Amino acid sequence: MPVLRTQVAIVGAGPAGLMLGHLLHLRGIDSVILENRSREYVIERVRAGVLEQGTVDLMTSSGVGDRLQREGMRHDGIYIAFDGARHHIDMAALTGGRAITVYGQNEVVKDLIAARIESGRPLHFEVEQVRPQGFDGTSPLVGFVENGERREIACDFIAGCDGFHGVCRESVPADRLNVYEREYPFGWLGILAHARPSSAELVYSNHRRGFALFSMRSPQVTRLYLQCAPDESLDAWPDERIWTELRLRLEMADGWRPNEGEIFQKGITGMRSFVVEPMRFGRLFLAGDAAHIVPPTGAKGLNLAMADVSRLAAALTRYYESGSEIGLDSYSEASLRRTWRAQRFSWWMTTMLHRPPDESAFDHKRQLAELDYLVNSRAAMTSLAENYVGTAFED
Ligand code: FAD
Ligand code: PHB
Repeated sequence: MPVLRTQVAIVGAGPAGLMLGHLLHLRGIDSVILENRSREYVIERVRAGVLEQGTVDLMTSSGVGDRLQREGMRHDGIYIAFDGARHHIDMAALTGGRAITVYGQNEVVKDLIAARIESGRPLHFEVEQVRPQGFDGTSPLVGFVENGERREIACDFIAGCDGFHGVCRESVPADRLNVYEREYPFGWLGILAHARPSSAELVYSNHRRGFALFSMRSPQVTRLYLQCAPDESLDAWPDERIWTELRLRLEMADGWRPNEGEIFQKGITGMRSFVVEPMRFGRLFLAGDAAHIVPPTGAKGLNLAMADVSRLAAALTRYYESGSEIGLDSYSEASLRRTWRAQRFSWWMTTMLHRPPDESAFDHKRQLAELDYLVNSRAAMTSLAENYVGTAFED
């Protein structure tokens, strides 16, 4: 069987796997990236859009931020809406100038794939039957099938960057995994529309018909989400119904509402919070959605994935440069600390803004009191702003 040899075998070419490969390349460390989907599929998968300052800084400092600097849309604040009014939260003023940037995850992935190809290092798409093995010893292997042929990679470390449904976490015996999980009784129906964004900043709206979110991708493209049932079928949502619902949930008393246009992409996602502990098993390291999922309300998932691989790349670099395992040994604990902070924030944003199907009158009154406090207290707004823009990656 043909055996490839590398230093780090990376499973998954999402943002985590691609960024890890890129950071290792810059430090002269060899890697092979294995991805089970096609290149087109990976590039076209529409997901996140909000980059924390730390993600923007990482992309810029690692040389893949040129297009992001040109096309990314810097946002200094967001709006929280309820009872028909929008309330501005000036995140930059509250955090000493930190901001978020709107730039599609698929654009991030496109930029990272271009950098990988330019580096000349291997990136295999459409591989099958990926099997991480031997990570408890010193010579791990990753088996896979490419074009019908069985192959193997011999490596020093395996990075499981293969998302929530990947194989790396599954390859760890269940009795070594501590899983913490919460499912929410709703999902998000998301659309992209050819419509000029009608607000310069995002609008998160708590409405009695359910949550809605106004976002964007470019000066010509509006991104919108609405709370729906987790098992909702897209067939039940013809375009006209989507616009009617969005109008009801997002139109404000002052007349503001999103511009409308042709819908060119639609999807429904369920929502969950999930963490697995630890994030290291011998020579296997989990990063990104392979180890944790957050509900998208806090816009944290992609950013957490980037923070993980930034830490993992630094730890691996230290190991190869000096033999020190200090960074590798602290990776799981340090990443989990950031993860749990993001979990708490995402859970808080989600429960504050969504309307659960079994909501009691008490819960609703409490939710309104929380929103009222948030938009009238500088301390509460600062707490939201700090968490939303995110702390520096080397926390
Ligand atoms: P993934 O992007 O899932 O990448 C994993 C890769 O591994 C995939 O390419 C997959 O095909 C591959 N793979 C899986 N199994 C195998 C296998 N067996 N062998 C080989 N390869 C495999 N996050 C934010 O920060 N901000 C937001 O605004 C935001 N909005 C979101 C909106 C929506 C609707 C959704 C669904 C998510 C959102 N997120 C957001 C979350 C964000 O998209 C994820 O957290 C992010 O994609 C995680 O990156 P990752 O590389 O860890 O995992
Ligand atoms: C998006 O633009 O896709 C987006 C924005 C904010 C979120 C989640 C997703 O909280």
